[in-house]
Amino acid sequence: MSVSMRRTLIAGNWKMNGSFASNAGLLDGVRAGAAAVSGELAVCVPAPYLAQVQSALSGSPVRWGAQDVSAHERGAFTGEVSAEMLLEFGCSYVIVGHSERRSYHAESDELVAQKAQRALASGLTPIVCVGETLEEREQGATDAVVSRQLAPVLDAMRTQLASVVIAYEPVWAIGTGKTATPEMAQQVHARLRAMLAERDAESAQQVRILYGGSMKPDNAKDLLAKPDIDGGLIGGASLNASDFLAIAHAA
Ligand code: 13P
Repeated sequence: MSVSMRRTLIAGNWKMNGSFASNAGLLDGVRAGAAAVSGELAVCVPAPYLAQVQSALSGSPVRWGAQDVSAHERGAFTGEVSAEMLLEFGCSYVIVGHSERRSYHAESDELVAQKAQRALASGLTPIVCVGETLEEREQGATDAVVSRQLAPVLDAMRTQLASVVIAYEPVWAIGTGKTATPEMAQQVHARLRAMLAERDAESAQQVRILYGGSMKPDNAKDLLAKPDIDGGLIGGASLNASDFLAIAHAA
């Protein structure tokens, strides 16, 4: 099925956690273990810590990024952070459309697409999150929901499709300890790749599709063994260097 030309990406999403002191220990641990990891490692951190992360990880193989970005280039947008600013801190990645932003900050599919486009235009790789709620899954609406979420992003990306990273994060699996089974996740990942292929068959084979939602050292191996699961977006387990590295080793 998949010709794996795709390099595994294990990305941490720290969410709104951290302090200078706890970050220092975590970053040291991740940096020290990174050389032994064959895939790619990244951490997506709260914006105020980007300077600390940049200095702690510069010169290491670990990349870093932010958890959100403005859809605007600059100007009167109080509280927002631009893609150009993230670049100044050496970011490679930015998460867009995380379910917590979609639900707590009412981000629409269109806004998420604009943010992804803004990121890409500045040279950042957007990690675009999609995923259904438990209610939507129970209604059999999973495919329809992720398709609706992804479509405007694909419209916005057009010629740069290969540069995007997608994360499938079923909302009911985030922070709940309930993981999608590898089969459930693979089914959605294959559907997402088919959507990409409808636009551009060659790029579809290059796009990394990460799974997120209670991925831990003990379930990572089976998930990552699936042909269309190219990595993970890790919440809770990314706050502990040895758990985060254990997931990377499972890849
Ligand atoms: P958990 O790994 O804590 O379930 O979080 C997943 C997530 O939302 C990553 O973006």
